[in-house]
Amino acid sequence: MKKWLLTILFGAALVLGACGGDDNADEGGDTDGDNGDDTEVAAGEEAYQDNCMSCHGGDLEGGAGPALDKAGADHSAEDIEDIIENGIGGMQPQSQVSDDDRTAIAEWLAEKK
Ligand code: HEC
Repeated sequence: MKKWLLTILFGAALVLGACGGDDNADEGGDTDGDNGDDTEVAAGEEAYQDNCMSCHGGDLEGGAGPALDKAGADHSAEDIEDIIENGIGGMQPQSQVSDDDRTAIAEWLAEKK
């Protein structure tokens, strides 16, 4: 009986917790979450424009370097960080990019699939 009650209480707590979480996620998706994403995306995009756009194009369409509009299909964010830090083939290491910007750009580009 006691165990049964506990199960109910525990279940209720889980459901409540899940609901709370869902609510937050929903609201976050529309407001906080999006804002968070936007900030990060904006930071990545801005840093991309400062450091990469001249070769990879304003719309990731490529230019002196290859198009990056599908960069995330071939490269993880980690790979891209590595490419920015160490260069690849004909691309010089982009050592002027700060650690934060590098991460932001890599995460932003890794979303492009
Ligand atoms: C001076 C021109 C130049 C700049 C600036 C530049 N790149 Fe590149 N990038 C290249 C070239 C050229 C290649 C192709 C290298 C090769 O494969 O030989 C390349 C390749 C890449 C690749 C691999 C693409 C693939 O499909 O394999 C990624 C990812 C990349 N660059 C990201 C960046 C990012 C992010 C920045 C900014 C931090 C940046 N690049 C800045 C010229 C540039």
